[in-house]
Amino acid sequence: MGSGQWKVEKRSSFRSDSFSKEYETVPETGCLSIIVLGASGDLAKKKTFPALYNLYRRGFLQSNEVYIFGYARTKISDDDLRNRIRGDILAKMLQSTLKMYQQIKYVSGSYDTEDGFRLLDKEISEHEVSKNSAEGSSRRLFYLALPPSVYPPVCRMIRKCCMNRADLGGWTRIVIEKPFGKDLESAEKLSAQIGELFEEPQLYRIDHYLGKELVQNLLVLRFANRFFLPLWNRDNIQIVFREDFGTEGRGGYFDEYGIIRDIIQNHLLQLCLVAMEKPVSLKPEHIRDEKVKVLQSVLPIKDEEVVLGQYEGYRDDPTVPDHSNTPTFATVVLRIHNERWEGVPFILKAGKALNSRKAEIRVQFKDVPGDIFKCQKQGRNEFVIRLQPSEAMYMKLTVKQPGLEMSTVQSELDLSYKQRYQGVAIPEAYERLILDTIRGDQQHFVRRDELKAAWEIFTPLLHRIDDGEMKPLQYQPGSRGPVEADELLAKAGYVQT
Ligand code: NDP
Ligand code: BG6
Repeated sequence: MGSGQWKVEKRSSFRSDSFSKEYETVPETGCLSIIVLGASGDLAKKKTFPALYNLYRRGFLQSNEVYIFGYARTKISDDDLRNRIRGDILAKMLQSTLKMYQQIKYVSGSYDTEDGFRLLDKEISEHEVSKNSAEGSSRRLFYLALPPSVYPPVCRMIRKCCMNRADLGGWTRIVIEKPFGKDLESAEKLSAQIGELFEEPQLYRIDHYLGKELVQNLLVLRFANRFFLPLWNRDNIQIVFREDFGTEGRGGYFDEYGIIRDIIQNHLLQLCLVAMEKPVSLKPEHIRDEKVKVLQSVLPIKDEEVVLGQYEGYRDDPTVPDHSNTPTFATVVLRIHNERWEGVPFILKAGKALNSRKAEIRVQFKDVPGDIFKCQKQGRNEFVIRLQPSEAMYMKLTVKQPGLEMSTVQSELDLSYKQRYQGVAIPEAYERLILDTIRGDQQHFVRRDELKAAWEIFTPLLHRIDDGEMKPLQYQPGSRGPVEADELLAKAGYVQT
């Protein structure tokens, strides 16, 4: 590794509205190689290659500057790989982007021996030479679309065989996918192993929820609107993730992790953007500092503020053990011990095989004190941020029912993105995050201390579940989950509106 590579910040050649312009110091002139490791796998096919394709299509990547490589053990040709990803992207492919597709190169090799990585390095170097990239100025982005068990050997091999040579505006960056460990200890071990090889600014831990449009909007919404400032400290906050399908072919993976590790500890815990204090500035490190602070203020979870569920039929999957204790549903109440949030329940709820597919943040306000409309009122004020499907923000308000009678009705101030921003294509989370990686913007990636704080919150509960001390309740597929979860919500003060 060239010493101090990570200190070199990017040229924002295609960024028009950079939050981090002050970081732009050394111009980047070398060509860019994007290497997808695990190119034969599911994530690469479904998300990584389509995201790269879309970045080309939108003009963020140029085929004369960027070259894509796939790497995996499976012995296939360049064309085989192209055909494999073709189904997902080629149907929509434009003539202008065919070049990118035709240029994809595949290298086969193992994940823990040097031969394959030496070959990969040779291919990358040949490309760099062909583009007259000055030595050390080229950029190498390694995307690990691989099971976490192989991260350490793969990182060792990259470090040994494939680093960009020097520090002349070029860099080597590593993107890694969740799950980052299974509990505090294993996550710290993984972080330490990778941390010995790469500096934190070279590591991009992806949580794709951070790339979703409305998650990216949270910072603006909260701190650019005076409206919200005095109100953002009550009354309860619910963060909900539902899927209307089960584990579908991923039972083996899922059973090892369960809903808390798969969704809550990472995606939903990005609630820290909802709860954090205002950062000193928009610099990625200032924002990440505030996220860590609020996570560190979370109190230990109480057993009585947890409801676990497992949908009926989950164990019919042949890859799931007959006596599995793994939750496919969980509602967990978090309590944050700081001035703003004392006494406010943060309810995190996630489940598979429920009645709908939805992800949203609901800020619910208490009843109006001394309410003169009490006898008529139909619901509480609520501010809802819907991440998916159909991005929207809306406020539930009580208004007068139009007409001659003086009665109240609940209505909405509705900002539905499809209507308000017609014709604006909302990019896929993976597109943004890959682009951020190329630009060297780490704001939307999980820092090591954030990861540690997140695992500290959930590890004691996870160990109790793993040890069979807490058991999931059965629920019907297609339902809202166990009724006990709704009872817990009611106990926490949430009123269904
Ligand atoms: P896959 O199981 O499809 O694995 C990717 C590739 O890794 C395979 O094609 C295979 O390539 C290689 N591989 C698989 N198992 C092993 C093993 N035990 N040892 C060594 N190599 C192996 O994984 P996904 O593509 O589904 O996921 C990749 C990463 O992304 C994982 O960390 C996953 O948790 C994460 N992720 C995946 C999502 C998805 O929707 N799929 C969503 C979010 C995160 P070969 O045999 O050719 O070397
Ligand atoms: C992944 C989980 O991280 O996120 C899956 O492993 C889940 O279990 C998926 O289905 C949900 O992502 P999205 O973007 O479809 O909400």
